[in-house]
Amino acid sequence: MTVDATLSRSSYTGAAKALHWLIVALLIAQFIFAWTMPDIRRDTPVTTLIGLHFTFGVVILAVAAIRLLFRLVRGVPEPEAGIPGWQETSSQIVHWLLYALLLIVPLLGWINADFRGMPVSLFGYEMPHLIATRAPGWQWTGDVHGLLANYVMLALVAIHVLAALYHHFVMGDGVLRRMLPGR
Ligand code: HEM
Ligand code: HEM
Repeated sequence: MTVDATLSRSSYTGAAKALHWLIVALLIAQFIFAWTMPDIRRDTPVTTLIGLHFTFGVVILAVAAIRLLFRLVRGVPEPEAGIPGWQETSSQIVHWLLYALLLIVPLLGWINADFRGMPVSLFGYEMPHLIATRAPGWQWTGDVHGLLANYVMLALVAIHVLAALYHHFVMGDGVLRRMLPGR
């Protein structure tokens, strides 16, 4: 693990916090679009909600990539004092799985939109095609995209949030505070 030795060693940097909470806000909007947009089947037109789902998804992919690069270069603060080793290890596993899903889920969605021949555009600019329309072997991407987002990502987020609340309200330590603005 790279530990950030240049700035505050006990708290996340302002940029790390801003990127973390920006992704939380974008994901809340993204799940609202996902759950309210029409079911996507063969020949479903790309309505406004579906278009917003694609646009926000591509933005999340870009912000997650920037965040991951930032994380790899700058590292993280030292673990909070007094955290048992198993909690340190399990939190790191959950964090890396979340980073992986923040890349894999939107990429699978994008591939599936291409597979269906649906245009993916970002504020009016059409994005490149990752695969050709109906490219053989890519049909599964829609189902796996939805399952990973609805079940795996949300389950991990639930564990992550419950752990943060447990640290704050039960253990009374600084784990949540070091990701909040201020410290
Ligand atoms: C982190 C980002 C994303 C999340 C959390 C997410 C979440 C979801 C969820 C939960 C569903 C299933 C909706 C339901 O339950 O009925 C879904 C469907 C879908 N999403 Fe995303 N999505 C993301 C990014 C994207 C991107 C970037 C694209 C395309 C550019 C996209 C394209 C699609 C498509 C085509 C479907 C329909 C798949 C099918 O049912 O076959 N998504 N998304
Ligand atoms: C209300 C919701 C959330 C709360 C209260 C929260 C809280 C936190 C806290 C306290 C940390 C720092 C943990 C530590 O110091 O060991 C953290 C880190 C992290 N959070 Fe969240 N989080 C939330 C939502 C999310 C969501 C939705 C995602 C992504 C899907 C996410 C991804 C991450 C990742 C990847 C890290 C690790 C940062 C790093 O060390 O590189 N969080 N979160």
